[in-house]
Amino acid sequence: MSKLLVVATGNPGKLREMQAYLADSGWELTLKPEELEIEETGDTFAANACLKASKVAQATGNWAIADDSGLQVDALDGAPGVYSARYGKTDGDRIARVLRELGDTPKRQAQFVCAVAIARPDGTIALESEGVCRGEILPAPRGDGGFGYDPIFYVPEKQLTFAEMTPDLKRSVSHRGKAFAALLQKLKNGSW
Ligand code: IMP
Repeated sequence: MSKLLVVATGNPGKLREMQAYLADSGWELTLKPEELEIEETGDTFAANACLKASKVAQATGNWAIADDSGLQVDALDGAPGVYSARYGKTDGDRIARVLRELGDTPKRQAQFVCAVAIARPDGTIALESEGVCRGEILPAPRGDGGFGYDPIFYVPEKQLTFAEMTPDLKRSVSHRGKAFAALLQKLKNGSW
């Protein structure tokens, strides 16, 4: 029998993505109730993932899963970080702001981080994992796949931006792919 796992997002795209990652996990994933809004008040990705999973678990009385992710640019002291989604009105504005703030500095190193948490029905955290993908910020966008900051995030080992990768390739190197691979491993180990 499969166990119900409520995804702490209102975004059906994120539900589909998590379903793909957790296809072999034995969980049945479902979206959180629309009216249940959780403010991301944490100052780390892990804190926000735990907060969202915990609140949704308590409100629904089910197990819940949440993720939180974003871009950290070394020369900007880790900005936009947990403010990645709020760094401008549109993806274009957010990209333009990062490029403007970096200017022509040669120090272009950055990383994407994704934290994932699963909470028990009482809101306590059962499992956490994190994935990191290191890369560089290009001076101008390249490629038209993906979303968010993908066109300016270049992965030297693949010589491609996230926006130039196929979804499968992005999944194999991305922060989110790594965080879910680690989570799946922990789920399989039964260490929770
Ligand atoms: P959240 O994890 O849904 O709260 O939002 C994370 C924000 O970080 C997104 O709105 C994007 O701006 C950015 N982000 C996270 N992961 C990626 C990615 O894989 N590619 C591009 N942007 C990302």
